[in-house]
Amino acid sequence: MSGEIRKIRLSKCSVGQEEKDAVCRVLDNEYLGMGKEVQLFEQELKKYLDTDLEVICVNTGTAALHLAALCLDLKSDDEVLVPSITYVASYQAISAVGAKPIACDVEESSVFIDLEDAERRITSKTKAIMPVHYASSAKYIDEVYGFARKYNLRVIEDAAQSLGGDRKGSRVGREGDIVCFSLDGIKNITSGEGGVIVTADPVLAQRVRDARLLGVEKDTEKRYQGARSWVFDVKHQGFRYHMSDLMAAIGREQLKKIDQFSKRRREIAQQYVQGLRGIKSVHLLDIDFRTIVPHIFVVKIDGDREEVANSLSARGVATGAHYFPNHLLSLYRSSYALPKAESLGRSLMSLPLHVDLSDSDVAYVIESVRAVTS
Ligand SMILES: Cc1ncc(COP(=O)(O)O)c(C=O)c1O
Repeated sequence: MSGEIRKIRLSKCSVGQEEKDAVCRVLDNEYLGMGKEVQLFEQELKKYLDTDLEVICVNTGTAALHLAALCLDLKSDDEVLVPSITYVASYQAISAVGAKPIACDVEESSVFIDLEDAERRITSKTKAIMPVHYASSAKYIDEVYGFARKYNLRVIEDAAQSLGGDRKGSRVGREGDIVCFSLDGIKNITSGEGGVIVTADPVLAQRVRDARLLGVEKDTEKRYQGARSWVFDVKHQGFRYHMSDLMAAIGREQLKKIDQFSKRRREIAQQYVQGLRGIKSVHLLDIDFRTIVPHIFVVKIDGDREEVANSLSARGVATGAHYFPNHLLSLYRSSYALPKAESLGRSLMSLPLHVDLSDSDVAYVIESVRAVTS
């Protein structure tokens, strides 16, 4: 080691003059709410995803998941199968509509929902399944759709982390029942905060469009023209979840950079794969980094994870834990054990991943991991 202590952040956004200029352009217009910019952003996302499905922008990924559950008309006591290892947003979106998240175990090698375990948890109340694209991988998503067909379930894909990734040679979100992305500050691209719902269901799409604006019917069409509904009806519960023009302006600039960002994220992941292979107490997930755009880079650590995290922190390397098992939280505590999720909850560790890391930063992280685990 050179003796140098760097400060390496776990994740961050990368914004330039283009995003700043875009924000100023919207500020100069003095129309900051949902209008033309959001409409254009939705059209550009649709083109990027190369999809015929409906694309709707909202203000967070959590709002996207919540509106998906809301507009499926999930009722109190309806059950949704969801992996235990995910951001708590997946669980909150389900419980927000009164439905019950049913925690399922995860595959040990990919942390994707374990469908054998999910099958054991099917009841007459099961209405939907929410697979999570953990660490941006949609590895077993086809199997999830097969499972959903078998049990007549709706699918809400929590694709918060996987914008830009491949699904069978096309893009994640090109097809599917309901696919929800996040555009928060540290995701593959950002609109400051933001979320996107992509759906094949036009009735659900109209409900979502209305629900993001307090349930005011067809308000979206007016807002895109810079107008508002003065006389209107509301038939369903809605929320203030729409995306603003300010956010969309940032998102539109970021979308122009997504190929460049994706390339760099993949390069960094490949460097980690090469560099970490062979370190005895560090295990890689079974993910093909050529086909995804990695939002986080997660490894499994043998032994005392906290000690490793503290030693890395002393070297200026930030780490994360994605995620604490949700079935162990007070609100969502299950009456059954999920052994793989519980074991992974103790061993998963995320290493720094963002597009502004240099090759030498990545080498420094690898060298640090090697030093503190040997
Ligand atoms: C797996 C997962 N689900 C849901 C979300 C929620 O997205 P947001 O932070 O945009 O609300 C995130 C984002 O952090 C996530 O990683």
